[in-house]
Amino acid sequence: MRILAIETSCDESAAAYLEVKEGKVANFAHVVATQAIHAKYGGVVPEVAAREHSTTLPLVLAELAKNVVGKEDGAALGKKVDVVAVTRGPGLVTSLKVGVDTARALAAAWNKKLIGVNHIDGHVRAAWLPGAPLEETLKNSRGIFPALVLVVSGGHTELLLMRDEAQYSLLGATRDDAAGEAFDKAAKLMDLGYPGGPAISRLAGEGDASKYAFPRPMIDDQNFDFSFSGLKTAVRYFLQREREQLRDSQFVRDVAASVEQAIVDVLVAKTVRAAKQTHAKTVILAGGVAANPKLRRTLGDALTQQLPNVRYAEPPFTYCTDNAAMIAMAAYFTAKRGKFDEGKKMEADPHWELGR
Ligand code: KG4
Ligand code: ZN
Repeated sequence: MRILAIETSCDESAAAYLEVKEGKVANFAHVVATQAIHAKYGGVVPEVAAREHSTTLPLVLAELAKNVVGKEDGAALGKKVDVVAVTRGPGLVTSLKVGVDTARALAAAWNKKLIGVNHIDGHVRAAWLPGAPLEETLKNSRGIFPALVLVVSGGHTELLLMRDEAQYSLLGATRDDAAGEAFDKAAKLMDLGYPGGPAISRLAGEGDASKYAFPRPMIDDQNFDFSFSGLKTAVRYFLQREREQLRDSQFVRDVAASVEQAIVDVLVAKTVRAAKQTHAKTVILAGGVAANPKLRRTLGDALTQQLPNVRYAEPPFTYCTDNAAMIAMAAYFTAKRGKFDEGKKMEADPHWELGR
């Protein structure tokens, strides 16, 4: 099966090509263009993002064609495609629409099958991409279920249970800010730019994580919900009091490390508890915040110590933040089940939630 995938749910314009033959990846390429323009606004501006997608996506597709067929020839690329896949939701509606309309047009022009992919399903399926931990279960992934997924991105923080292929149920989710948002907002309070997660994790590496005791909201609650807005407020009041110290770079590193530790502690405690309760065979880490080295390490260590028989699957760094490779992989599993969308009717769904 040969899939062309498009992702435009937020501020990355991305396209990927994936060919799977007899349960193995036979050909694979992907291109991601991140919209730098939002940094000056301190966050993603939906209207600007959509306009950027419409100018960038054709360039990304041309680049992908070059990688797959050796030249910027869309018609030649089209001949090598069986299915066109695209992120249909959740995300920013105006951004999603650019990808969805492009995919529908390509599928109609090339007379190909079409699959609308859930963006979160995409993040989860990054664990099956080339070089990722579950790659060898592509042919038969039965043995890994039930799998517990911790999804941590800029818009989502949730624990999902995958009982079997495509059988997601939601165990819990954030009641306010997502984990990525907590990183971004803390970074903004320290003037570290947008997106703030990578900046915080870089600085945290040289800071003392035990220096400041920030709250770990809901860590002891026996449910699987999260809340990060209280942490953000605590950081804001703390920085208002200690404003003068922001000029001291070691202070900034210590605050970054302490904030990161608070977020990671909550995520790891709840994930390990959920893995125990659900008797999960596998724990999958997914989403942009999965690129955080502290989270990867702490979760891995906690599982090794407390649940040594559980398989831990963290995606390679390149596939943590938004990309179309993960969308192609999710589409592959959907196509395997014979589930396709009707091009004439398919529309973006900004609120499409998995497992509810
Ligand atoms: O999955 P993603 O690319 O987009 C959404 O679907 O939201 O996630 C983006 C989020 C941002 O909030 C960003 O700050 C966060 O992932 N992020 C990180 C790191 N890299 C990206 N957070 C913490 N540490 C990182 N290294
Ligand atoms: Zn995402």
